[in-house]
Amino acid sequence: MTIDIRPLMPAFAGEVFGIDLTRPLSTAEAAALEAGMDTYAVLVFHGQNITDEQQKAFSLNFGELENTAGGNVTKTGQQRLGAFMADVSNLDANHQPLARDDRRRMFNLGNQLWHSDSSFRAIPAKYSILSGRIVVDKGGRTEFADMRAAYDALDTKTKTMLEDLICEHSLLYSRGTLGFTDLSEAERATFKPVPQRLVRVHPVTGRKSLYLSSHIGKILGWPTPEARMFLRDLTEQATHKRLTYKHAWKQYDLVMWDNRTTLHRVTRFDDTKVRDMRRTTVAGDAPTVEQMAA
Ligand code: OGA
Ligand code: MN
Repeated sequence: MTIDIRPLMPAFAGEVFGIDLTRPLSTAEAAALEAGMDTYAVLVFHGQNITDEQQKAFSLNFGELENTAGGNVTKTGQQRLGAFMADVSNLDANHQPLARDDRRRMFNLGNQLWHSDSSFRAIPAKYSILSGRIVVDKGGRTEFADMRAAYDALDTKTKTMLEDLICEHSLLYSRGTLGFTDLSEAERATFKPVPQRLVRVHPVTGRKSLYLSSHIGKILGWPTPEARMFLRDLTEQATHKRLTYKHAWKQYDLVMWDNRTTLHRVTRFDDTKVRDMRRTTVAGDAPTVEQMAA
């Protein structure tokens, strides 16, 4: 089989045909997908009835797996899935939908804010690989926005102004905007803010992109209200409909995205219904602040 990638609308998302992700990939297949990711940034696969083990094996073609610890408020021992599987479902360890007032549910509602996965970690994620094991037919779509196009659309003056800005990212900030502040001292310590550049350069293509996220709460050296207002405007422009691809899930779809160049969010859905989504995350290789000023 040969891999065939066809552009979706807009064309930073591509639909992939001619590959079975449950089997080990050849070196050529892995290279073709990585090249596809560099060109597109979001790749969509259909009909991939994959197990957790197969999903982890597939993900390892692109780098190390990121540890899921520190990304949510689910206590050790309460997890539904094994190591390296990020549970993006609305389910508890017994596969039942979480109660309306369950703090894990309220925390996870933050996935409806535009974000880049793990931008709150000192070394943020490279790719996310999300498998739709049980999907809902109304809402629960995943929207993506292209931060390369968003950067390109800025005027020269703005580009120059943003070039060397450093932002602070934390789950405390994204959840704080939802009024979710019920956190223990240990959780607050885990969610300690980290610095990230606002403009990133893709290591392979050299293209610049905006590194936005609802996890941002500060721009270093700026008054906080000014920073938040500015970032709110910038995010609004960067996620304009013309720059977004909205994925309507079918069971066993698998979607892979580059967190260095895209934002995403899930749309609201009736979460008394089961939505079983499982994510593996390919770790990044360096803090963005180490990236040389371009
Ligand atoms: C994620 C995420 C959105 C969704 O997996 O990182 O934000 O559609 N998921 O569940
Ligand atoms: Mn996410």
